[in-house]
Amino acid sequence: TREGFEHYMLKEIYEQPESIRNAMRGRLDEENATAVFGGLNLTPQQSRMVERIILTGCGTSWHSGLVGEYLIEDLARIPVSVEYASELRYRNPPIENNTLVFGITQSGETADTLAALRETKRKGHRTLAICNVVGSSIAQAADGGVYLYAGPEIGVASTKAFTSQCCVLAMLGLYFGRLRHLSFERGKQIIEELRQLPNAIQQTLGCNEQVRDVAQKYQNASTVLYLGRQFNFPTALEGALKLKEISYIHAEGYPAAEMKHGPIALVDKETPSVFIIPRGTTYTKVMANMEEVKARGGPVIALANEDDPQVQAVADDVIHVPQVPEFLQPIVNVVPLQLLAYHIALLRGCDVDKPRNLAKSVTVE
Ligand code: M6R
Repeated sequence: TREGFEHYMLKEIYEQPESIRNAMRGRLDEENATAVFGGLNLTPQQSRMVERIILTGCGTSWHSGLVGEYLIEDLARIPVSVEYASELRYRNPPIENNTLVFGITQSGETADTLAALRETKRKGHRTLAICNVVGSSIAQAADGGVYLYAGPEIGVASTKAFTSQCCVLAMLGLYFGRLRHLSFERGKQIIEELRQLPNAIQQTLGCNEQVRDVAQKYQNASTVLYLGRQFNFPTALEGALKLKEISYIHAEGYPAAEMKHGPIALVDKETPSVFIIPRGTTYTKVMANMEEVKARGGPVIALANEDDPQVQAVADDVIHVPQVPEFLQPIVNVVPLQLLAYHIALLRGCDVDKPRNLAKSVTVE
């Protein structure tokens, strides 16, 4: 049931502090400062041998794969590539020994993801699933994996599955990192940062009213740009997908610095840009990108930390997000973008939970 929420999507957005807690339950091992997984079916020796990781999936699950690329390379220093499952299944790329292939999927029934995993498994690579639905086709086809335990996701637009996938990928980064160069101290610190995450999401949900006002203002846009860098680049893609999917407004996500290579030509006073600009290593760079858009007359909506007068001076509208470590920012910053898509869709009279032309799981090619 929707438990008092107007739509499943909204309920699922609000469940995120809890679904993240469920993804972490029993998996953070304080004593060894690492993460533990019941179903990876890998010995520590086998895990240490992994030299490359391929993350594959579709749609939102592909976006969490992109977050995973930044996460795992940062925490574990293992090279990661991210592949659309629909491309991987026919592309026949050379895959080195000691490559681990993860299929990322909420439903566990996406035809392309299943086919990509089957094909890589057939070639003798170890395949694992990061999956929500227990006992699903992909969970069964894989050699092992990690369940999200996010509970049923009914809204066609994926929300809580995305944040749980990112959280599982962060824990995998910790796990592989601790088998390599990550110190005990750093491991402990990461665990502590992960433990704070549900509270940070809870706090982020407090932006709902702010987001509703922003939605009101921009509901008639015909194109919206989403821009962020590093960890916040996949978040920009995900924000754009949410808006397209449920409000039928054209949206594009880009790494903010790519703007000047073409997309900035789209900017005019009718085309808002959403900048994801919390404090972090690329803050001043994103600031410069934001000023470029502003100088060309484009309305700017910024997702930024509270008490940021610099952002306030440039942006037309600011949505506040709490400050969290950079590797966890996607999990927090996607929340206002989910809400923005939700409110705009609602204002435009769209069927939020069942957008046109889409099905919850895509079981055909
Ligand atoms: O069930 P899966 O995670 O495999 O589904 C993949 C995509 O079909 C899915 O994420 C889709 O893009 C969503 N509707 C996005 O909100």
